[in-house]
Amino acid sequence: MPELYVGLMSGTSLDGVDAALVDFEQRAPWRPLATHSVPYPPHLRADALALNAPGHDELDRAALFANAHAELCASAVHALLARTPHERAAVAAIGCHGQTVRHRPDRGYTLQLVNGALLAERTGMRVVCDFRSRDVAAGGHGAPLVPAFHAAAFGAPGTHRVIVNLGGMANLTDLSHGATPTGFDTGPANVLLDLWAETHLGAPIDRDGAWAASGSVDDGLLAQMLAEPYFAMAPPKSTGRERFNREWLARHAPERFAPADVQATLAELTAVTVANAIERHCPAAIEILLCGGGSQNAELARRLGARLRGRALANTGALGLEPRWVEATAFAWLAREALAARPGNVPLVTGARGPRVLGAVYPA
Ligand SMILES: Nc1ncnc2c1ncn2[C@@H]1O[C@H](COP(=O)(O)OP(=O)(O)OP(=O)(O)O)[C@@H](O)[C@H]1O
Ligand SMILES: [Mg+2]
Repeated sequence: MPELYVGLMSGTSLDGVDAALVDFEQRAPWRPLATHSVPYPPHLRADALALNAPGHDELDRAALFANAHAELCASAVHALLARTPHERAAVAAIGCHGQTVRHRPDRGYTLQLVNGALLAERTGMRVVCDFRSRDVAAGGHGAPLVPAFHAAAFGAPGTHRVIVNLGGMANLTDLSHGATPTGFDTGPANVLLDLWAETHLGAPIDRDGAWAASGSVDDGLLAQMLAEPYFAMAPPKSTGRERFNREWLARHAPERFAPADVQATLAELTAVTVANAIERHCPAAIEILLCGGGSQNAELARRLGARLRGRALANTGALGLEPRWVEATAFAWLAREALAARPGNVPLVTGARGPRVLGAVYPA
């Protein structure tokens, strides 16, 4: 009997919703049976971006966005299932991340917007969402949550692996300690690259890092950016658009430099901060596996490879799960853990007081 779950991920890059149908009866790392992506329509992306900062009438705008996000998720689920012979009744649950608009564990909350009730209503399926709040309630960061999944999917006894997710932010999981992984957010991955590309190319992304590859790193600018205190903080730590955003970029007065050189420097910033984190926290790692959209940025991957001092660099596709579907698969897995009443957090990673069952359940 298949054990089917749908995972829905919409990350800090605000590129849209990734959907994956996963059968957990199959062997790890659970390559999805089907996948589908729905990009954010420009007005919804703008609404999400605006909600990342204080503004007028936020309550109404947040509630309306949560509804619109649920509708987008429902359309992603319908399109996903239409690609398979499976009926919705055969799916145990949808695991839906929601859209992060504030991440303030220091203030005791993190906010991932999605109207779970509406998603259950539109799909007729059980929905698990709000995965992060319980960990924050237990004193944790609520992030990153993927390390438990990385361990289940990619852990191999005797192999010291590090999984690096290059999403809007970058997070790493150190799979060196047998069953208990460690991990944290290293800093920005794509969010600054996307911002700068949008400003100067008028395009949402620097495809394959071609523009970054045309520039040269400015060492002074890089050193200035590396002075950001977040990079030196000890884990547990997590970050988001509250810290790494347009204002952060503006503080370094990038207009003094040729735009392509800034893009090269931002790519180098991600590469250096990830490599430094590996060097400092998991120096014995021998295999580095990339996932997330940034793994498609050839220039970013090249720069990271150059900093890894002979460690093997590949992406998670080499282990059987394509890099762009890792996060959606992880939230399908977290829904399954929730329904089985198993903890989904790793206290060592998030800083929570203990293991907790994560998520809020909306019945079908
Ligand atoms: N071909 C490509 N070339 C360059 N960059 C790419 C390419 N494909 C994807 N990306 C980058 O990946 C980003 C999307 O990655 P992803 O969906 O993993 O991030 P996310 O939604 O923010 O997730 P997370 O929750 O991990 O932050 C895009 O915004 C873009 O910067
Ligand atoms: Mg995404």
